[in-house]
Amino acid sequence: MSAIGSESTLNLPACPEIGNRAVAAIHAAYDRYHGGFEEITRRARERFERRDWRGAQADATERLALYRTHVDGAVADVRDILQDAVMERTLWAAMRGRHALGARGRPDAELAQTFFNSVTRRVFSTVGVDAAIEYLAPSPGPAEPGGPPLHDRERVETVDSEVIRRILERFEWSVPYASLRRDASIVARIITEAVDRLPATGPVEIDVVRSVFYRNKGAYLVGRVRRGAAVLPLVIPLLRAERGIVVDAALLSPNEASIVFGFSWSYFRVDVPRPRELIEFLSSIMPLKRIDELYNAIGYNKHGKTELYRNLMTYLELPEARFAFAEGDEGMVMAVFTLPAFNLVFKIIKDSFGAPKNTTRQAVMDKYHFVFVRDRVGRLADAQEFEHLEFPRRCFPEDLLAYLLSVAAETVRVEGDQVIVRHVYTERRVTPLNIFLRDAEPGAAREAVIEYGNAIKDLAAADIFTGDMLLKNFGITRNGRVICYDYDELCLLSECRFRRIPAPTTIEEEFAAEPWFFVGEQDVFPEEFRAFLVPPGEVRDGFLEAHGDLLDIEFWHRVQRRLAQGDVVDVFPYRRSALLRRA
Ligand SMILES: Nc1ncnc2c1ncn2[C@@H]1O[C@H](COP(=O)(O)OP(=O)(O)OP(=O)(O)O)[C@@H](O)[C@H]1O
Ligand SMILES: [Mg+2]
Repeated sequence: MSAIGSESTLNLPACPEIGNRAVAAIHAAYDRYHGGFEEITRRARERFERRDWRGAQADATERLALYRTHVDGAVADVRDILQDAVMERTLWAAMRGRHALGARGRPDAELAQTFFNSVTRRVFSTVGVDAAIEYLAPSPGPAEPGGPPLHDRERVETVDSEVIRRILERFEWSVPYASLRRDASIVARIITEAVDRLPATGPVEIDVVRSVFYRNKGAYLVGRVRRGAAVLPLVIPLLRAERGIVVDAALLSPNEASIVFGFSWSYFRVDVPRPRELIEFLSSIMPLKRIDELYNAIGYNKHGKTELYRNLMTYLELPEARFAFAEGDEGMVMAVFTLPAFNLVFKIIKDSFGAPKNTTRQAVMDKYHFVFVRDRVGRLADAQEFEHLEFPRRCFPEDLLAYLLSVAAETVRVEGDQVIVRHVYTERRVTPLNIFLRDAEPGAAREAVIEYGNAIKDLAAADIFTGDMLLKNFGITRNGRVICYDYDELCLLSECRFRRIPAPTTIEEEFAAEPWFFVGEQDVFPEEFRAFLVPPGEVRDGFLEAHGDLLDIEFWHRVQRRLAQGDVVDVFPYRRSALLRRA
């Protein structure tokens, strides 16, 4: 797949001196980005060991800003060096060839190539992809022989506590395990039970990645268990208790692993010299996850975008590829469409918004950015922002195209047989909760609304108030988790003013259609939630039984008090093991 790079170095004219200097500046900017990324990532272990949760949160946010900063720096450098020649495409074509030479030997070549693309796209405001000056298929360099292995391997006849102890002890923490012997024997038991359910027999191999995955208050060991042809994921979440490090669970099903690596959690901090090798490992235990989602999960979301884009474009070449309207209620702010065969929605900000929305395009983008940099606590879908995409027109049914042109003409235009989209967010597609409940069996409906309440509460604990708490703004994943995807009314919960509805003092007040008392921007009346959280019926009864406290102003005030104390809450992306958990 490195054909693009080598082809360009072979066929293109030699790069002039200023081009070489510009390429050197791009490599240097990438090195600064990656150096910064690794430095922050490496802090994760110490943050965990010291229980410095605020520091960990600050690191996560700081790391997200790095890419932009260093691409900006590279663009400025390149403009300085190239001056009037900055828009000469033949020069850039030669520069790409030169850049490929430098990137080729890197263990993170695909990331360096994506970085080069980001710079060219910014300089040229490229629409679609410019094959002459961008890498079409950034790809990793050849595996470096002799580097440290990605994972260790244990090969045993039976999984006993000794093996697990060895595995756990291989990680050199500065803090001891609180109860290594006990935890190891319980994990061994959980693994043995899972392995015994496999059809295969014979020795068991356990591979465990040497790098630890950190997120919020958790540290995760990630590996796989293999017997014969059968492979199980192995995810071991660790917590830093007061007493030391404790094992909190042992997850061995693809669904559980997949939730830990899901798109509604913030990105992991994991120090890996050769990202592609890790991605391939993760893919071997979560075959249903797309490669781009795995890159996102480890913090390389820009490269995730490259992978997604390439994947998408290849798919759209199929004669049957068609976009479609997204299922569910039309948004007032966003025009949403999907690719049915691809688990993805595309969200475009409309040109104008009907009442009662009084927001602006910039304010909507700010909300999406707010979600991007915050801890998403497993309840907010990750949205990737794309600019200047170009899709084949034949992939749009006429009514969808007419709709997009009528509500978002500032963003969508047709040029010949292409549809050009100036700005769009992509998100994983989920089933809108209102649609799910319409067709669900009573038991499934009940579980879903209970999950909906859990989602509202998890978000609240993380200082997020979703504003539009309506079923149509939440969706359910294939694993049954409920997440929110509508961000234009999201705000900090600590900034909301939760109020009781004042008692009317006159007949006019009592029967007034509109509130007769002043309602400020930040005012929220929890008593009113009853009317719209869940439609009346049995399902609502179940919801109120589990989450009736949401209607009580005291619930919200309590959360606000906890937030004011500065507690960093964590939400666990797995069921905590009852066996491992202490009273
Ligand atoms: N990630 C997603 N998966 C599936 N469907 C989605 C997703 N995001 C949005 N939708 C669909 O698109 C519709 C509009 O999206 P969204 O709620 O984000 O827009 P909005 O304009 O902000 O809505 P509102 O008018 O409620 O403010 C949703 O009601 C839902 O049916
Ligand atoms: Mg909505």
